Amino acid sequence: MFEPVKIAPSILSADFMNLGRDIALIESAGAGYVHVDVMDGHFVPNLTMGVPVVKQLKKATSLPLDVHLMISNPLEQLPWFLDAGADSVTVHAEALDADGLARAVASIRAAGAKAAVSLKPRTAAGVLAPVIADVDMVLVMSVEPGFSGQGYIEGSEDKVARVVALARSVGASPLVQVDGGIGVATAPLVAAAGADVLVCGNAVFAAEDPARAVADVAAAADEARLSALATAGKEA
Ligand code: DX5
Ligand code: ZN
Repeated sequence: MFEPVKIAPSILSADFMNLGRDIALIESAGAGYVHVDVMDGHFVPNLTMGVPVVKQLKKATSLPLDVHLMISNPLEQLPWFLDAGADSVTVHAEALDADGLARAVASIRAAGAKAAVSLKPRTAAGVLAPVIADVDMVLVMSVEPGFSGQGYIEGSEDKVARVVALARSVGASPLVQVDGGIGVATAPLVAAAGADVLVCGNAVFAAEDPARAVADVAAAADEARLSALATAGKEA
């Protein structure tokens, strides 16, 4: 059945001096989430925002806060982000061993939040196998994490398709999110491959009209999703 994609604008590309204004703008544009990129200067070279920002965002918006942890020690910091009001928390598979990954997913869910696991571009979808049945969402990175405004890595849509296939093989249906270089040109590729949630940094906040950009990316993705569904229907 057709479900429209959701857009998750990344506030890493927003105007921090006018963050309240930018949040209000994406709310009224119909965004599905606020994507919060937490970087520790260790797991990735860049250093961005943390718990105090999540706490303040929680008071400022009714949109779900989608917290993407690009940090080396997620197990230690998870409780803080959950307490601060994260609605969904994404940990990176590369930051944890299989046991740690399972523990992270369990503790996010025990706190009543949605649990997601992310894969860097060179990490194989197969590492998700032990947790795929227990996650609410999988985040496929389509750039090397660390900075907004990078170009989409060609072929990332194949990873999306592999994640969808892996999930189906165990009867699971987590949301699939894609992050990095997503705009009107690339959204159709990943949406056709099965992506449900699209993170957009520069495509939204560097646009002259961010609200229009949210609508345009969603429309391009939905069109591709619909025609992929129609093709699959014919083949079935
Ligand atoms: C990259 C971050 C992304 C980034 C997206 O490490 O996880 O969320 O801010 O920005 P764009 O859409 O500009 O690639
Ligand atoms: Zn992100």
